Amino acid sequence: MARLTIPELKSRKGRGGLVMLTAYDYPSAKLAAAAGVDVILVGDSLGMVVLGYDSTVPVTLEEVLHHSKAARRGAPGVHIVADLPFMSDATPERALSAAERLIKEGGADSVKLEGAKLEVIKALLAAGVPVLGHLGLTPQTAGSLGGYKVQGRDSLAAKRLLADALALQDAGVWGVVLEMVPAQLAQLISKQLNIPAIGIGAGGDVDGQVLVFHDLIGVFDRFKPRFVKRYLEGGSLIRDAISAYAADVRSGAFPAEEHAYSMEQGELEGLYGEKD
Ligand code: KIV
Repeated sequence: MARLTIPELKSRKGRGGLVMLTAYDYPSAKLAAAAGVDVILVGDSLGMVVLGYDSTVPVTLEEVLHHSKAARRGAPGVHIVADLPFMSDATPERALSAAERLIKEGGADSVKLEGAKLEVIKALLAAGVPVLGHLGLTPQTAGSLGGYKVQGRDSLAAKRLLADALALQDAGVWGVVLEMVPAQLAQLISKQLNIPAIGIGAGGDVDGQVLVFHDLIGVFDRFKPRFVKRYLEGGSLIRDAISAYAADVRSGAFPAEEHAYSMEQGELEGLYGEKD
């Protein structure tokens, strides 16, 4: 499979069904690729679902880089977006240096950054780095937004979000993630844009959806936002499998003969000293 290019991604506008999924390692990226996702996001959500942090704020560039490399090895044919972690996009200079590493070393095709940081976005695009925007609930600054809350519920905030989305489009991003915004607002924003709007908790009237891998397979259980649909209760399935393994080890049922290796009889006799 060939990776989707920026013109191909932009051409998905208005067609619906653009599928984005996070993946942070070789096996999850390989599975996502085999299932035919369009775009893999090495999101800084990895800090919460893989590394056990309380938020995405502590995630470092080295961590995103490490996981991008693994995801790239698992999905060589899929367009990968890597997140710019908190503060790595504080200035154009920092963002350029972070994006350089994510693309050259991490194998990413685009970077995503949160908020309407137009100066930074323009610098990245001028340097040839494709950018995906992210508006609405922006987890790196959730504290300033009043927590993990729906954004743009009142008309003033909604107008600001629409203006930001249009400004990102004018700056040249290839698409915009809309996180936790009312479905009616997401629909309106998507209609006004000529680039893909990718929703997460933004209803179905957008061009695509993104979900976090560990939410989709049910292995992240600290909280479950309303927008998450679990397609597997992976947490309980995996826990049951581990319990069965532990029970087999304790009862002696594992390993069985088929899991063991054997020696030739003659060699065995030599081992016991019956052969010179
Ligand atoms: O980090 C992430 O996984 C994200 C998605 C929730 C869009 O930014």
